[in-house]
Amino acid sequence: MFLSNMKSLRTGIIPVLAMVLLAGLSACNKKDAGSADNEILIGHYGSLTGATATFGQSAQKGIEMAVDAINASGGVLGKKLKVLVEDDQGNPIEAQTAVTKLINKDRVVAVLGEIASSNSLAAAPVAQQNRIPMISPGSTNPKVTAVGDYIFRVCFIDPFQGLVMAKFATNTLKLKNVAVLRDIKSDYSVGLANFFVENFTKMGGTIVTDISYSQGDKDFTAQLTAIKAKNPDGIFVPGYYTEVGLLARQARKLGIKVTLLGGDGWDSSKLWEIGGDALNGCYYSNHYSVDDPSPILQKFVADYKAKYKGTSDSIPDAMAALGYDAALILADAMKRANSTRPDSVRDALAQTKGFMGVTGNTTLDENRNAVKPAVVLEVVVDAKGNGKNVFKETVSP
Ligand code: PHE
Repeated sequence: MFLSNMKSLRTGIIPVLAMVLLAGLSACNKKDAGSADNEILIGHYGSLTGATATFGQSAQKGIEMAVDAINASGGVLGKKLKVLVEDDQGNPIEAQTAVTKLINKDRVVAVLGEIASSNSLAAAPVAQQNRIPMISPGSTNPKVTAVGDYIFRVCFIDPFQGLVMAKFATNTLKLKNVAVLRDIKSDYSVGLANFFVENFTKMGGTIVTDISYSQGDKDFTAQLTAIKAKNPDGIFVPGYYTEVGLLARQARKLGIKVTLLGGDGWDSSKLWEIGGDALNGCYYSNHYSVDDPSPILQKFVADYKAKYKGTSDSIPDAMAALGYDAALILADAMKRANSTRPDSVRDALAQTKGFMGVTGNTTLDENRNAVKPAVVLEVVVDAKGNGKNVFKETVSP
């Protein structure tokens, strides 16, 4: 039975199989050759949907804008860049799946993403194991680039961001007793809360209570009631905009009037919509301000507004600006490497020095992190939920 099957395999099926295989191979070759001939494939994975949807959407808009500009001026090494986008819904498991697909199926030469640190942390090992360079536009948790030497970021990291907000709370706002409310499910939130606490207490401040919520929570009454009982003069909430907006409203309802402070995770036009005027007089640290008069930044803001006019978000937030810079820095590395081979691109990326982008000057240090100034922004929202970020100060590393 087995033998006769083997025989029929040899005589009948094998040639057919071989033909199918060959056809498949040549189809693959054609695709690879085709893309190698005139296109360079890069991947972007991000939260295009879900509770952090504006992060992925904005990053994608910034990346798209950079790639269009690069291609309009001749592309890279005579080829056009093509971005393949995967929606990870803001979920770490989906992020890992997305990067696996981009690398193994689509055969991208590099990946851009993610914004939220927990998603970057879940996906980075896939890029590292496959030796495909990954550049996170906005993940600030230190552990992200520690995954390995193929993992880069073009933003500052949270030890610095925590220091910036501790200084602002102490020196500018003169706060003495601060409560901390952290998102226990987010590596970003937990890390940034720790760095804030460390610096704020070093400067003489007191943390009156340090409690948590979980991403996805809708009711923060228990935590806010406990915080109110401690009578703090400020609350540090290093979370993402959806929960921060909701809890700001609930805090005001409970009669908590003190300033809320946070980090870059607040950055979203949705924050104004969700939190409304409960956020007036609150502050957060961020990667850039649209009010920065630098000509390169103002040109970016104007071009972005023109390109995305009529969409829900036509003013570039930090993710858009960082996505834009990440794509430009990748293209620059390919040009310097004079190659799109992932190993060569990695080596060139590691040598990035003084790259002038819209978020300032990017030099990647030996840990593949950027060292950049941060800005502190004040949230100003009118009664209709129309908001803006008002620039307060710049803090250099
Ligand atoms: N820094 C955040 C994180 O690591 C993500 C973020 C970046 C959010 C930039 C807003 C703007 O999770």
